[in-house]
Amino acid sequence: MTTNSIMHVASALARQTLLDGDLTRPVAGGRPIRLLPWLQVVKIGGRSIMDRGAEAILPIVDEIRKLLPEHRLLILTGAGIRARHLYGVGLDLGLPVGSLAPLAASEAGQNGHILASLLAPEGVSYVEHHTISNQLAIHLSAARAVVGSAFPPYHHHEFPNSRIPHHRADTGAFLLADALGAAGLTIVEDVDGVYTNDPKAEGGEKAQFLREANYQDLAKLTGTLPFDRALLEVMANARNLERVQVVNGLVSGRLTAALRGEHVGTIIHTGARPV
Ligand SMILES: Nc1ncnc2c1ncn2[C@@H]1O[C@H](COP(=O)(O)OP(=O)(O)O)[C@@H](O)[C@H]1O
Ligand SMILES: [Mg+2]
Repeated sequence: MTTNSIMHVASALARQTLLDGDLTRPVAGGRPIRLLPWLQVVKIGGRSIMDRGAEAILPIVDEIRKLLPEHRLLILTGAGIRARHLYGVGLDLGLPVGSLAPLAASEAGQNGHILASLLAPEGVSYVEHHTISNQLAIHLSAARAVVGSAFPPYHHHEFPNSRIPHHRADTGAFLLADALGAAGLTIVEDVDGVYTNDPKAEGGEKAQFLREANYQDLAKLTGTLPFDRALLEVMANARNLERVQVVNGLVSGRLTAALRGEHVGTIIHTGARPV
């Protein structure tokens, strides 16, 4: 609107605090659009898959290769044993959490480079965070899949909740998949899914398999989980992604079945409401 040649910018949020949900809701209460609704995000575990080397990686690479004609994938890798070593050295030296986060993230990146190299003949390459943020669509127009690091780039912005970074690969993969409005997120582990306790720990034979769970039920479990706990916190506020499936990547065909919509692991329901 122009009055006396002075430009006034109309803005629905101009005259109010952004802290009052009642005032912002009429403008900001809608569901965000899905940027890449055909995208399938697959998070490959660092410790559970990549650290096992050829024995676990080659069959997964083979499975992903066969999936490419069916799906367009963002493959995100986590960190494993090398990040744990970095945490050990860094903590011993007293490094703050914001310095440890990028060190661990660098291992997630290394794992991504390994996976991308093996899928290079299929046109798959490793892309950095800024490319995922800005140019994922063009990359996925040129190739059926790209690989990136699942670690979120908080670096010195990492919350100082604990000395070990709070937001790790599972949280990073979920934040991306939800923000992009992806069709799905599959978390690939070395167990059939989520149990009431670590099935490999002492007394693990008593752990019960959870075929389906709500993020709130999992938050009540006091033991360990096969993903970072912050994942449950971000699931509470999910906008697009209504469910995530955790599958066993050591069993041939599970990832393929999960991407085809079959229930072959643990399905976790998030806080996102159906449209
Ligand atoms: N509640 C649980 N349900 C299933 N697995 C669990 C649970 N708690 C711990 N684990 C363990 O987590 C392991 C995976 O470790 P994790 O650190 O998640 O690996 P990655 O780095 O590959 O994500 C599994 O092999 C399993 O032993
Ligand atoms: Mg895990």
